[in-house]
Amino acid sequence: MVQTDVVVIGAGAAGLMCAFTAAARGRKVMLLDHANKAGKKILMSGGGRCNFTNLYTEPSNFLSGNPHFCKSALARYTQWDFIEMVSRHGVPYHEKKLGQLFCDNKASDILGMLLEECQQNGAELRLNTSVQSIERTEHGYRLQSSAGEIACQSLVIATGGLSIPTLGASGFGYQVARQFGHSVLPTRAGLVPFTITEPQLKAMCESLSGTSVEDCLVSCNGVSFRENILFTHRGLSGPAILQMSSYWQPGDTIEINLLPQLNLIEWLQAQRNERPNTELKTLIGELFTRKMAGLLTEHWFVSKPLKQHSTAELEEVAQKLGSWQLVPAGTEGYRTAEVTLGGVDTREVSSKTMESLKTPGLYFIGEVLDVTGHLGGFNFQWAWASGYAAAQYV
Ligand code: FDA
Repeated sequence: MVQTDVVVIGAGAAGLMCAFTAAARGRKVMLLDHANKAGKKILMSGGGRCNFTNLYTEPSNFLSGNPHFCKSALARYTQWDFIEMVSRHGVPYHEKKLGQLFCDNKASDILGMLLEECQQNGAELRLNTSVQSIERTEHGYRLQSSAGEIACQSLVIATGGLSIPTLGASGFGYQVARQFGHSVLPTRAGLVPFTITEPQLKAMCESLSGTSVEDCLVSCNGVSFRENILFTHRGLSGPAILQMSSYWQPGDTIEINLLPQLNLIEWLQAQRNERPNTELKTLIGELFTRKMAGLLTEHWFVSKPLKQHSTAELEEVAQKLGSWQLVPAGTEGYRTAEVTLGGVDTREVSSKTMESLKTPGLYFIGEVLDVTGHLGGFNFQWAWASGYAAAQYV
């Protein structure tokens, strides 16, 4: 039997951070992962460049049944702390937009940095290792794993959520939580594209697949995001849509303002005065791509010279473009979702230490917890911060 101080299960963002930080405190740490590689999601993230944090990280960027839970960890390991480590390792990065920091080169720079920290601090990484059972003992925990029996004082669950099973995601963390008496809040896919099945709209999305509209205001359930949207073969995607998917419930209507920068009715009336002979379709073509203008006109409007449009008709045009209402059929689900909403109920976990309030020595960090960030580097910041918090106490 192998004896160690700390076992961390899951060598993703949170697990790696926790493992080397605890090892730096002098703890003997073993980091296990069933995958053949650590940090697969890090490598895939940010289109291969890893949006590793956000300059404007605030607790309000996170969804949770217990919104105060994330505050303590985020305050004790901030975006600036992570940026300091990135700079110390000489990883070049830049702000893309809205405070989102990306690697200049590749996401593997971030994974390389985390693995180097593990090595330098002496955290032992064991890949291709699955855990069959966990048992509580007098001094901690005993694990039966594919690498044999392992005993530890502290056990950290960092197995993430259910998104993208092909990258190693599993429900293992929820299973362990339940085993030790924890509640797991219902999970669902977040930061995920919407699917559309309504035939006319689906046909429009298909024809416009790959077209993005730069500045849209997407609203639902009292929440709004202003960013671009993207038409896909099966529905809608793009940052504003992905953000909204985390707030959307099946059956909810979403509203899209395709031109939030304009006071539409005033603008349309002004255009009618300035160039009365211009066709509505031509005018809309100046705002979007010609193809999109053609399809919108075909679906929504009768195109004729502006002077022939009554004010009531222009109001209808403004209404359509400014508050397009649609009910998505669903989402693309865990297959493509960036995150999993819900998870281990944070009311049963210490916000200071990430330790279970039910079973001493058991810790939960990262996405397995019911804490989900907005798009933009917030999910990694949560993984770093929660991993760091637990590492001080394991
Ligand atoms: P994570 O999923 O990273 O790690 C869990 C680990 O546990 C994995 O290595 C897995 O193999 C292992 N594991 C699972 N079950 C196990 C078992 N039974 N036994 C042993 N090991 C097990 N966020 C962000 O802030 N910026 C970004 O740019 C992106 N981009 C992005 C792109 C894509 C495609 C996805 C899918 C996700 C993102 N994210 C993101 C989200 C981000 O990747 C995610 O929130 C963090 O990786 C969560 O970190 P965790 O360590 O909690 O889980």
